[in-house]
Amino acid sequence: MSTVPLLLLLVVASAGAGDGAAPASNARPCASPAASAYPFCNATLPFPARARALVSLLTLDEKIAQLSNTAAGAPRLGVPPFEWWSESLHGVCDNGPGVNFSSGPVRSATIFPQVILSAAAFNRSLWRAAARAIAVEARAMHNAGQAGLTFWAPNINVFRDPRWGRGQETPGEDPAVVSAYSVEYVKGFQGDYGEEGRMMLSACCKHYIAYDLEKWRGFTRYTFNAKVNAQDMEDTYQPPFKSCIQEGRASCLMCSYNQVNGVPACARKDILQRARDEWGFQGYITSDCDAVAIIHENQTYTASDEDSIAVVLKAGMDINCGSFLIRHTKSAIEKGKVQEEDINHALFNLFSVQLRLGFFDKTNENQWFTQLGPNNVCTTEHRELAAEAVRQGTVLLKNDNGFLPLKRSEVGHIALIGPAANDPYILGGDYTGVPCHSTTFVKGMQAYVPKTTFAAGCKDVPCNSTDGFGEAIEAAKRADVVVLIAGLNLTEETEDHDRVSLLLPGRQMDLIHTVASVTKKPVVLVLMGGGPVDVSFAKHDPRIASILWIGYPGEVGGNVLPEILFGKYNPGGKLPITWYPESFTAVPMDDMNMRADASRGYPGRTYRFYTGDVVYGFGYGLSYSKYSYSILQAPKKISLSRSSVPDLISRKPAYTRRDGVDYVQVEDIASCEALQFPVHISVSNDGAMDGSHPVLLFASSKPSFPGSPIKQLVGFERVHTAAGRSTDVEITVDPCKLMSFANTEGTRVLFLGTHVLMVGDEEHELLIEA
Ligand SMILES: *[C@@H]1O[C@H](CO)[C@@H](O)[C@H](O)[C@H]1NC(C)=O
Ligand SMILES: *[C@@H]1O[C@H](CO)[C@@H](O)[C@H](O)[C@H]1NC(C)=O
Ligand SMILES: *[C@@H]1O[C@H](CO)[C@@H](O)[C@H](O)[C@H]1NC(C)=O
Ligand SMILES: *[C@@H]1O[C@H](CO)[C@@H](O)[C@H](O)[C@H]1NC(C)=O
Ligand SMILES: *[C@@H]1O[C@H](CO)[C@@H](O)[C@H](O)[C@H]1NC(C)=O
Ligand SMILES: *[C@@H]1O[C@H](CO)[C@@H](O)[C@H](O)[C@H]1NC(C)=O
Repeated sequence: MSTVPLLLLLVVASAGAGDGAAPASNARPCASPAASAYPFCNATLPFPARARALVSLLTLDEKIAQLSNTAAGAPRLGVPPFEWWSESLHGVCDNGPGVNFSSGPVRSATIFPQVILSAAAFNRSLWRAAARAIAVEARAMHNAGQAGLTFWAPNINVFRDPRWGRGQETPGEDPAVVSAYSVEYVKGFQGDYGEEGRMMLSACCKHYIAYDLEKWRGFTRYTFNAKVNAQDMEDTYQPPFKSCIQEGRASCLMCSYNQVNGVPACARKDILQRARDEWGFQGYITSDCDAVAIIHENQTYTASDEDSIAVVLKAGMDINCGSFLIRHTKSAIEKGKVQEEDINHALFNLFSVQLRLGFFDKTNENQWFTQLGPNNVCTTEHRELAAEAVRQGTVLLKNDNGFLPLKRSEVGHIALIGPAANDPYILGGDYTGVPCHSTTFVKGMQAYVPKTTFAAGCKDVPCNSTDGFGEAIEAAKRADVVVLIAGLNLTEETEDHDRVSLLLPGRQMDLIHTVASVTKKPVVLVLMGGGPVDVSFAKHDPRIASILWIGYPGEVGGNVLPEILFGKYNPGGKLPITWYPESFTAVPMDDMNMRADASRGYPGRTYRFYTGDVVYGFGYGLSYSKYSYSILQAPKKISLSRSSVPDLISRKPAYTRRDGVDYVQVEDIASCEALQFPVHISVSNDGAMDGSHPVLLFASSKPSFPGSPIKQLVGFERVHTAAGRSTDVEITVDPCKLMSFANTEGTRVLFLGTHVLMVGDEEHELLIEA
């Protein structure tokens, strides 16, 4: 085990020799004799003192050279360069310069399903385990000199509009689910190694804030001014970031390109400082890439490049992704717009994170993760966990007469039809690195049914011609069962590209109709993609027996699909996003309002506020079993003034009345913990197959008020229930956080009066009184 430190020393030696080019080096400053005498390497001093010591040793030019994702280091002090930008959304990937799959022994990494599919599992321990596995691979790559220590994931913007090209990267539309995912990802990824906030790696909550438009009609993310009211900010846009910081203890925030009410997000001092002052954020704030350069050049928010730098550094941003600050900060200082003190603040935050990551440790033999190497990447265990995420996330949307699961004995010949069926490059969605071993759907199916035939039907996902239809028809006619694989690819939805339609691309719908009209039996439709698709036609067409949504399932997608089709695994995933009809595209994507407004024909967004028809609703998903629920135990009444906690309400009178409705302000509740209550639910599996699925507990309040949510998710728990049996599950509800919502001033309020808890068809009334 002594080979690892030795290797490190060699790398340090070469970096110290002035070749500072390799961006994601794993060199350590304090391992070099030159640096070890400096106080920033003195392990008996606390981290803040060491960070300040290093800042004090740097010249102004050396300081400025730190303000980029590709930080130059200070060769004079033995400090090697540092690359802040690596990516790991659903597996280590090379979208940032920190990761390189060809510069060392690690040539690939496990591609987990795209986040939106894992989200559909609604399983916190799965999310945590996947983040942890990604971190193990990331750290192993770092140790091999092929990745950095700081990664820019997760993406926790709420999936507000179904057209958003990056909605696939997120855990969906519900702020509570996105919050919960962010906490598990960050905790799993960063690890927590005791004193002084030590971490194995750093995760980043992005994009702060109200970023969820790429390029749509005349709008682009670089200049989009997101007009967000105080109410939506408080109960939709902000909660994931608050949880990611407060509970997840993330060590990085990324400020986004867009403006928020006329001010660039990276220049919103109030918003950036809220994280530090109110949520206890300790870490660094990076801009999105080139987000500072555009402030003057493209947003014309400032009068000069120097002014842009002043406004972001003073707002609390620490590094800029890109070279803009390296090029213009000196001149900003000379013009008196930026003071050296502004830079010192930033460097203190940056070095503090590096210290917590062990970058300034003299030796790192004592940490288990410093011993990780190529053997810890692409392991069977990680592949199995990725498969588990696909199994748990896949959503069964339709299953007429129990058409699925298929019986092996009855399927001698199966046809897979669709351009995605045999394409290994479609499985990961965006932010996909180099997979260890991608299994296409055709390959995976052949392992189950040797006589599997494939016909693309369309040349590619955009499906602009019917040229391949003939071949598809022939294949379909001969098969016992036909599985059509349709849906989206990055040509429709990706970074810098939103969709304009919610329908299947090109002639895909024609292909499905054509094939379904010639088959012996009804067909199975498997939908890929991150964003929802309006498949109303398929929902109502009896020739399409079953519909499954499999997101972007990652490298093991092809292995798992047959497991589900043949019932080796009983699907139980639930949609983390509303599937809207095509008519929703009449809603302007740039309208950030969540709440419906009948006076202007605005239907609202997400299951909490949307008043229109859906194709499939948030939380929808079937199983090969049928589950029913009963609420065994839950309070009937919660009395704020007669609580066992004295002075639970800090304000007198305890409540306010407006528009005939009584409510308390959440900030006036002294102990939200004391208000939490458990709900005991019995889950019965009334079907013939064992199965696991998430129990989603919603609440709505009887008194309603313009802007109160239709209902909201107040808890979820995935449970396994054997056929014919029942399982009891306990869900703890936090009324302050999840039964409340924001009023128009952005103040969180909890209604007094009757609330209804709902799980499946079961309802339970609960009175909250003052
Ligand atoms: C490290 O810091 C401690 C506390 O200030 C000091 O006593 C010690 O001499 C320092 N060690 C070195 C090697 O400078
Ligand atoms: C990755 O490393 C290889 C070998 O060192 C180098 O040739 C290549 O340019 C690097 N790729 C990137 C994207 O930096
Ligand atoms: C910003 O403006 C410059 C100059 O007009 C242009 O070259 C660049 O493409 C724009 N960048 C973005 C991100 O729109
Ligand atoms: C999906 O998109 C990827 C990346 O753009 C491309 O390589 C692949 O060919 C596409 N697949 C299909 C079936 O269109
Ligand atoms: C498909 O057709 C549409 C519109 O006819 C066109 O915009 C698009 O570029 C085409 N895509 C491909 C991949 O041919
Ligand atoms: C949740 O995920 C973990 C990790 O994959 C798994 O062990 C557990 O069985 C899952 N829970 C349920 C109820 O499916």
